[in-house]
Parts: sequence; C-alpha cells; structure tokens
Amino acid sequence: MNIQTPENIASITPYPPGKPLEELEREYGISGSIKMASNENPWGPSPRAVAAIRGALEGLHRYPDGSCYHLTQALAARHHLMAEEVVLGNGSNEIIEMLVKAFVQNGDEVITSHPSFLMYQKIVQVRGGVNTVVPLVNMQHDLPTILATITAATRLIFLDSPNNPTGNPIHPLALRDFLNRVPESVLVALDEAYVDFMDRELCPDIRTLIRENTGRCGVVSLRTFSKAYGLAGLRVGYALMPSSVAVSLHKVRQPFNVNQLAQVGALAALQDEEFYQLTLQRTRAGLRYLQAEVEKLGRVSYPSQTNFFLVDVHGDATALYEAMLYQGVIIRSMKPYGYASMVRITVGTEEENERFLRALALCLDQLGYR
Ligand SMILES: Cc1ncc(COP(=O)(O)O)c(C=O)c1O
Repeated sequence: MNIQTPENIASITPYPPGKPLEELEREYGISGSIKMASNENPWGPSPRAVAAIRGALEGLHRYPDGSCYHLTQALAARHHLMAEEVVLGNGSNEIIEMLVKAFVQNGDEVITSHPSFLMYQKIVQVRGGVNTVVPLVNMQHDLPTILATITAATRLIFLDSPNNPTGNPIHPLALRDFLNRVPESVLVALDEAYVDFMDRELCPDIRTLIRENTGRCGVVSLRTFSKAYGLAGLRVGYALMPSSVAVSLHKVRQPFNVNQLAQVGALAALQDEEFYQLTLQRTRAGLRYLQAEVEKLGRVSYPSQTNFFLVDVHGDATALYEAMLYQGVIIRSMKPYGYASMVRITVGTEEENERFLRALALCLDQLGYR
C-alpha cells in the first residue's frame, strides 16, 4: 500500500474528548471516579426519555424516519418556526459538519474565535477551507475584529454563545448590531449549545434573527440535547435557520442521520419539563456553590452562563489536572487552549461537587499552589 494522506488531513490533531471514566479507572487502578470535564448533565437522562427508548427497541429492524417528522414538528412548535426551518443532526457536531460541507469549498474562508469550541476549525480543515482565527479579547468574542476580518472569500462565521470554554454569552444588542454589519453572502452560525442555562434576558430572540435577514447575513442557531436534556450519549442536535439554508443542509446529510432511539428519546426529553427545570435549578445552585467554595480556597472563578466555569488555580493547570486524576476526579486543563493556569469544571451532582472540592483542596496543597 502506498496511500498518500492529503496535507490538510495529515496536519489535523484529533479532537481531545474529556477522558472517559472507564479509561481513567483502568489506567490508574481506581474505582468510583467522577467526571466533571465534558459539560454533560450529571443527573442522567430524563426518565421519560429512557422509557420512550425502551418502548422503541422492538422497532429497530426498520430504518428510522429520515425526515424525523415528530421531533421536527415538536421543535418547530417550541420555537414558533416552520418545520422547514429546523434541521436535525447526530449531535450538533454533525450540523456544524453539514454547514461546512454545504457552504465551504476549497480555499473558502471561515472565521472562528480562539479559544472556542475546537470542532469548527477541524471540520473546515477537512473540507480544504481556510481558517481565520480571531483571538478572544477579555474572554469575549472580538466582534469588531471579526467584522474587519471578513473578505469576499468568507462563507461562514462560527460564534459560540455562551462561549466554550469561557462561559460568557454575546449580549443580544451587541449580537444584533454585529449581524446587521455582516454581508449578505456570509452565514453566521451561532452555536447555542448552552443557551438553556442562560438568564432569559440575555438570550437573543432567535426567531427574529433568523427571519429578519434582508440586507444582511443569514443566521443559523445550533442547539443540542447533549447538555440540559441529558442525552449526550444518544447524539441528537438541531439547528434553526432560514428554510433556504435548510434545503442545502438536507442535500448534504446522510438520509438516516438521526437514529430511531435518538428521535423518540429526544422527543420525550423535550416534553419532560419537570426534568428540564430541575436540571436548570440544580445546575445554577451547583454553579453558585462551587464558585463560592473555590474562591474560599483562594482561587479566582470566572462568571458563567453555562453548566461549567473556569478557575484560575495559580499554577500549572495540566499538573493539577493530573493530580486530580489520582483522586479519581476528571476535569479539563485549559493549557492546550492557551490558558496555562486555568481549569474548566463542569457542575456535578451535590456529592460530586463535594468530592471535587475535597480533591481540589488536597491537590492545590500537594502541588504547593498559593
Ligand atoms: C459549544 C459547543 N458546541 C457544540 C457541542 C457539541 O454538542 P453535540 O453533543 O450536540 O454534538 C459542544 C459540546 O461540548 C459544545 O461545547
């Protein structure tokens, strides 16, 4: 065999997912470890989703409904949009991929921020597009520089709001002003994976942003069932967009991209208001508690509108991450993102939060971080 890997593929560093619990326990010979690294819902999937999935198991010999009829209808009703303005994906990751497939050709430019969600740039690179990366300023998307960076070759702009990993959203007024200045030939993908956790007054009116696009860019809002809805393992995401954009995404997607169990599970989770509200309440309470306790340990924690937050540990973040692994607690070092002394913590259950705080105090002491 003499296969040549194209340069754009060879130079990709694979996405580093949060360390799986099983892998940690195998490698370190420990048990009962906890993961506060991937911004998942620690309270599990909605019980109604689990019941719906159980009920659908006997139908697995059939292909799923490629149009995701029931879930699409429910999402359209939820957002007061038409079904033609909703596209579903195997996680919102797949929709990021569809957007790039549909709108980016060799040499086209895509603007992203750094640090932000890493998948945008990887997918653009696979497609042979050109990544233009604008650094965050004060942990915020630098909207004026992004505007100044747009060229005739720009096809897409990815903005995660709230941003992963910093946790802060773009203010709705700043967002509207920005969108009004982006040319008509550009599509802005607003990745709202964490929108459920935000204060309502900070959430943009996404329906209006999608529909009122005369004389300016198109807007796509990316959403997911992986966070507040607790279904990360099922892989379901969706996006809201002008129907003309949706038509192109349907052309590039796999015909059965959302499996049968994912469709019924997500629909049941969407209707499980009690579980959803409880998740939001517990997440907000957990976030407040963790941030206060971390500050009592003499560290700075950063405000967040999500289910995670950054902490400056006053020392090497990766060394702390490794010391925490020995305590059976998985967190994220932000060193690879350029924040050498910061870690990202996902809110856990009440017991997990306590365990994390005990481990953190111990490891800060062991490492001599003052
Ligand atoms: C900002 C952001 N967008 C998208 C995703 C991917 O979500 P999904 O599980 O729907 O693919 C994540 C996951 O962590 C994320 O943080």
